[in-house]
Amino acid sequence: LKRQFIILTLIFYVQALLFFFPAGKGSSSISSDISSSTDHTPTKAPKNVATTEGLDSSTRTLSTPSPGLILPSKSSSLSSPALSSNGHETNSSSSSSAPAETVAVIHPQPGTHTRSRQSKTHHYAPIDLLPDHTLLQIFSHLSTNQLCRCARVCRRWYNLAWDPRLWSTIQLTGELLHADRAIRVLTHRLCQDTPNICLTLETVVVNGCKRLTDRGLHVVAQCCPELRRLEVAGCYNISNEAVFEVVSRCPNLEHLNLSGCSKVTCISLTQEASLQLSPLHGQQISIHYLDMTDCFSLEDEGLRTIASHCPRLTHLYLRRCTRLTDEALRHLALHCPSVRELSLSDCRLVGDFGLREVARLEGCLRYLSVAHCTRITDVGMRYVARYCPRLRYLNARGCEGLTDHGLSHLARSCPRLKSLDVGKCPLVSDSGLEQLAMYCQGLRRVSLRACESVTGRGLKALAANCCELQLLNVQDCEVSPEALRFVRRHCRRCVIEHTNPAFY
Ligand SMILES: *[C@@H]1O[C@H](CO)[C@@H](O)[C@H](O)[C@H]1NC(C)=O
Ligand SMILES: *[C@@H]1O[C@H](CO)[C@@H](O)[C@H](O)[C@H]1NC(C)=O
Ligand SMILES: *[C@@H]1O[C@H](CO)[C@@H](O)[C@H](O)[C@H]1NC(C)=O
Repeated sequence: LKRQFIILTLIFYVQALLFFFPAGKGSSSISSDISSSTDHTPTKAPKNVATTEGLDSSTRTLSTPSPGLILPSKSSSLSSPALSSNGHETNSSSSSSAPAETVAVIHPQPGTHTRSRQSKTHHYAPIDLLPDHTLLQIFSHLSTNQLCRCARVCRRWYNLAWDPRLWSTIQLTGELLHADRAIRVLTHRLCQDTPNICLTLETVVVNGCKRLTDRGLHVVAQCCPELRRLEVAGCYNISNEAVFEVVSRCPNLEHLNLSGCSKVTCISLTQEASLQLSPLHGQQISIHYLDMTDCFSLEDEGLRTIASHCPRLTHLYLRRCTRLTDEALRHLALHCPSVRELSLSDCRLVGDFGLREVARLEGCLRYLSVAHCTRITDVGMRYVARYCPRLRYLNARGCEGLTDHGLSHLARSCPRLKSLDVGKCPLVSDSGLEQLAMYCQGLRRVSLRACESVTGRGLKALAANCCELQLLNVQDCEVSPEALRFVRRHCRRCVIEHTNPAFY
C-alpha cells in the first residue's frame, strides 16, 4: 500500500511538472506539442541535455537531435485552443495550488522559462535521483499525450519515455487533432528499432478524432500487426476500404469500435488477403467485440458478410442500424453462435421473426436489447423466453406490443434476469409484474417508465419479492406515494426514480 501511495504521489508530481514545463505555446495537446517542437527544441534540448549529463545513467544515445516529435508546423494547429482536449492538464484553475508547492522544489524562483539557465547552478532535481525503473513505472501511468511531453524534458527522459514497454497503447483525443499525422509520427517513432512495424502496439484509441481518415488507418494497418483493439468511434470519415485493410493485416484484432462511422457498410477481408489465406484458415476475422452503433448505412447484405467473416463474435452492438431486417439476423444466428450480447435498439424493421432467429443463439445470450423495435410482440418474446434461459439483461422499452402474457413467459423461463426495461409498454400491467416478482427474485434494475397500466399493486409485489432491487424507474407512472413508500421500506438499497411530487 505504501509503495502504491508513493507511486501515486510521484505520478501526480510528474503531471504537475508537466503542467509547468514550458510546452510549446501554452497549449498542451499532442498536436501542438508535436508541431511546436520544431521551433523550440533545437535551442532548448542541448541545454537540458548538458545540465543532466552528469546524471544520465542511460547508455543509449539520442538517435534524433530533438527530443520531441517533429511535424511540419501548421500555424492553425498552434493557435487553436480547442485542440487541448485533456482538460485537467490545460486548465490551471483545477490544479493550481497544490502542485505549485511541489514544483517549487525544483524551481525555487518563479518563471518557468528561465529554468534551463537556473539549473546550471543547481544540477540535482530530486526526481532525477530516481532510478530508471521507477521513472518507467511512473511513466507507465501517463497518457500518450503526457508521455510525448515527458520526452521533451531532457535526454534521459526522452530515452525513458520512448521505452517500447510503455507503448502498448496509443490514445488520442480531440476533435480537431490531426489524427492521421499524429498516428503517422507516433508509429514512425515506435518503428525506429524494428523497421516499419511496431511490435509493441496493441491498442489504438482515436475515439472522437473526427479528422481521422483512411490514411491514418492505413498507417495503423501497415505498422501494427499485433493490434488487438481499435476504437475509432465518431470518426465518420472512415470508409470500408480502410477497415478491410486493418482487419486483413491485423490478425489478432479482437475489439473494434466503429460506433458512428456512418460510411462503414461492411467488414470483410480485402480481396488480396482472402486470396492469400489457405482454405484451412477460412476467411475468418477474429473480432470478438464489434460496435457498429449508428452505422446507419449497414444493410442486411453487409451484416451477412460480417457474420460469415467474424464467426467468433461475442458482443455485437447494432443500435440504430435502421436498415437491418429480420433476414440479417438469420445469418447472424447461423454464423455467430457465440454471441452473448446483442443490441438491436432502434432497429425498427426487426420484428418477431427476427427474434426467433436471435433465440437460436440459445444458451449463450445474456444481454439483449430490442428497445424501440416496435414490431416486436409477445410472439417474439416467447421465442426468446423459451430458448434463452440464461438471459440476464433485457431491454424491451417501447415494444408496445408486449403484454403481460409475454412478460409471464419471460419470467418463468429466465429466472436469472437481473435487469429489465419494459418502459413505454402500455399493455404491461400488475399481473405481469406479479409473475416477474414470483420467478425473477434476483432482479436488480427494473424500469417501468411510462407504463400506464402499472399501479401500486404490481410495485408492491415486486418490492416484496425482489429484495435485491437497486434501481426502480417509475417515472410517468400512476402510482401512489404510499406504494412508493412500501418499496422504500422493503428495498432499502433501491434508488427510486419517479415523478410523483407527493413522494419524497
Ligand atoms: C478553466 O476552468 C474555468 C472554470 O473552471 C473555465 O471557466 C475556463 O473556461 C476553463 N478554461 C479552459 C481553457 O478550459
Ligand atoms: C471527410 O471527407 C470528405 C470527403 O470525403 C471531406 O470533404 C471532409 O473534409 C472530410 N472531413 C474531415 C473532418 O476530414
Ligand atoms: C464504443 O465507443 C463509444 C464511444 O466512445 C462507447 O460509448 C462505446 O461503449 C464503445 N463500445 C464498446 C463496445 O466498447
